[in-house]
Amino acid sequence: MLPSLPTTMRAAVLHSYNGVVTIEDREIIPPRAGDVIVKIAASPLNPSDVMFTYGMYGFRKPLPTVPGFEASGVIVAVGEGVDASRIGQRVACFAGNDDGAWAEYMRIPATNAYPVLDSISDEQASMLLVNPLTARALIEIAQNASGSSAIVQTAAASALGKMIIRLAAEQGIPTINIVRRAESVDELTALGAAHVLDSSSADFEHTLRELAAKLNARVAFDAVGGDLSGRILHLMPRNSRIIVYGGLSLQPVTISLDDLIFRGKHVEGFWLSTWLPTIAPPRLLSIWQEEQAHIGDTYKTDVRARYGLEDIGRALADYSGQMSGGKVLLTFMPED
Ligand SMILES: NC(=O)c1ccc[n+]([C@@H]2O[C@H](COP(=O)([O-])OP(=O)(O)OC[C@H]3O[C@@H](n4cnc5c(N)ncnc54)[C@H](OP(=O)(O)O)[C@@H]3O)[C@@H](O)[C@H]2O)c1
Repeated sequence: MLPSLPTTMRAAVLHSYNGVVTIEDREIIPPRAGDVIVKIAASPLNPSDVMFTYGMYGFRKPLPTVPGFEASGVIVAVGEGVDASRIGQRVACFAGNDDGAWAEYMRIPATNAYPVLDSISDEQASMLLVNPLTARALIEIAQNASGSSAIVQTAAASALGKMIIRLAAEQGIPTINIVRRAESVDELTALGAAHVLDSSSADFEHTLRELAAKLNARVAFDAVGGDLSGRILHLMPRNSRIIVYGGLSLQPVTISLDDLIFRGKHVEGFWLSTWLPTIAPPRLLSIWQEEQAHIGDTYKTDVRARYGLEDIGRALADYSGQMSGGKVLLTFMPED
């Protein structure tokens, strides 16, 4: 049976862009026209969430606010204009402009809530939007990149990096995977990645230059930024592109003028939030169905640790201390 909608909820509230959230009671505001209210089942901690809490993401929300950009759950209320039969539907969802997902309930536009197959767990559903859609988009960029036969990627042991490895393999595109620790080399090699380079090893630059030339890798996907972006682009063949989609190093990207001017190299950015509106709704629906159908072999995300909402402080500290080896999730107890 569906829970009735209470008037308040527990929520992780951000009062200042200093990375600190506190658990508080917060009002549940009824849905406006076109909205739904989702009772949250699970929500991951992603790099974008952490950056948001420090005011370092692509936008800020008025404070106080609730962080958390994606989740899974059940629709428990709908606003005017939304089909009432959606009440009770299990969904994966993006936060909207209001409070986010690190709370018992989240109010969002109905179009931000994607129905989930019964066969998919709440945990997997909560991680099936941000990274899988980004991986899809980046692979499409690689497929459309004329003159390149392979991909270089950084932070390759991330959840997203592993999806890129699997998707690229399915499309017959070789990947050169860059990590920064020996354990990550072992992890990705065990997953079947043929080329895994440790950026801290002495022969990194030599090996990357040789491999990128041999495999004709002229597209790089970079989630790190800082000087690594420029080092990688420099080691790739003439006319290569680096697409920066994350800033894990928290440092500005540095690129050599020689590479830009005399070697025809390019730097670009990618953001899911600007890519999504370019995708027609029927195509997005078919991508969503494909993701669900292939969750086991392509889009599954490992989970390393689970915390209740009240333990959000410990969850954030755990995630900041170890980002590889599986996601840290907030999980909410199911209703009896
Ligand atoms: N632009 C977009 O629209 C978009 C969408 C989705 C994701 N992203 C970005 O994609 C990236 C991966 O996300 P995710 O959720 O898959 O991450 P994740 O699973 O939480 O893993 C993060 C990875 O980053 C590595 N890392 C952290 N700091 C690093 C640094 N300074 N230098 C090198 N590696 C570092 C970690 O490796 P260690 O174990 O070595 O620390 C870990 O493997 C993030 O940057 C995220 O913001 C962007």
